[in-house]
Amino acid sequence: MRVAFLGLGRIGIPMATHVARSEHELTVWNRSPGKAAELVSLGATEASSVADAVTGADLVVLMLFGPDAVREVLPEVISHAAGALVVDATTNGPAAAREFASSCREAGLRYVDAPVAGSIKPATDGTLGVFVGGSVEDYEQARPVLELWGDPDRVLRVGDVGSASALKLCVNQGLGVMAAGVGESLRLGRDLGLERELLLTVLSQTAYGWFLNQKLPMLQSDDYSGTTFSVDLMAKDLDLAVRAAGTDLEVTRAAYDQARRTLAAGHSGEDYAAIAGHIADEGEAGS
Ligand SMILES: NC(=O)c1ccc[n+]([C@@H]2O[C@H](COP(=O)([O-])OP(=O)(O)OC[C@H]3O[C@@H](n4cnc5c(N)ncnc54)[C@H](OP(=O)(O)O)[C@@H]3O)[C@@H](O)[C@H]2O)c1
Repeated sequence: MRVAFLGLGRIGIPMATHVARSEHELTVWNRSPGKAAELVSLGATEASSVADAVTGADLVVLMLFGPDAVREVLPEVISHAAGALVVDATTNGPAAAREFASSCREAGLRYVDAPVAGSIKPATDGTLGVFVGGSVEDYEQARPVLELWGDPDRVLRVGDVGSASALKLCVNQGLGVMAAGVGESLRLGRDLGLERELLLTVLSQTAYGWFLNQKLPMLQSDDYSGTTFSVDLMAKDLDLAVRAAGTDLEVTRAAYDQARRTLAAGHSGEDYAAIAGHIADEGEAGS
């Protein structure tokens, strides 16, 4: 297939790299140029516009920041990729996914939402979880490409367009709440006079273990620059979750507020573990 891959961010690059190494023909585009050198060295073509990237493509992959970015890029895709299947791997939320599917359908394109679960390491290893929302036919067409970055046993069609995005929001809502919860556990311990290191060791053996086993060095050093998933993305996803729910998700809203405060405190671009660190340190002398 001729594949156009739009969005070479932290996770887009390792995902596109699998396509570049496959038998498919790959053209890539990113809003800011200069990210495609390694992909080009693997045989990909770098396009200087969305129109150039998608013209003649059978499959157009979107891996952008969020729904606002997709809203900016999709009209050009629709204008230049007649008949193509749009595989939107961006975490957008279900309402936006249905909106994008409808815009595509009206113009004779097809659309599946195909957000991923996992981060840079599974993306590099080709073992991401992939949730797919769309028709069985479109899922079957996309599957050979999705299995390049996804674990074949975890590339799952979960329902119609929007269902995959709904599932993905539930996953990230949990992660965001967990980051905020770890931060408050650390703050509580600090207020009760406990050492941070002891707290981290013992909390790592609790239900927070999954998170802390990945983020422990960041919380020990208070250095969140080794970003895999940014605070900015987590704030976007918590906001999407709060807006998507039909009821007031008070805990999620509190986690979203904390993510925003973490951004306002200067942690934009850093890993979302900074949410835990920021909460843990808030109120401390000098913070
Ligand atoms: N990182 C992870 O671990 C992870 C895991 C699962 C899912 N996701 C989801 O995957 C998507 C990408 O994540 P990421 O970590 O790669 O994010 P990222 O590093 O922040 O990259 C965002 C990408 O979106 C592009 N972009 C942003 N605004 C745009 C706009 N208005 N028009 C066109 N392009 C725009 C950026 O282009 P520039 O380079 O020009 O800024 C960049 O290519 C997000 O939806 C995220 O929620 C990420």
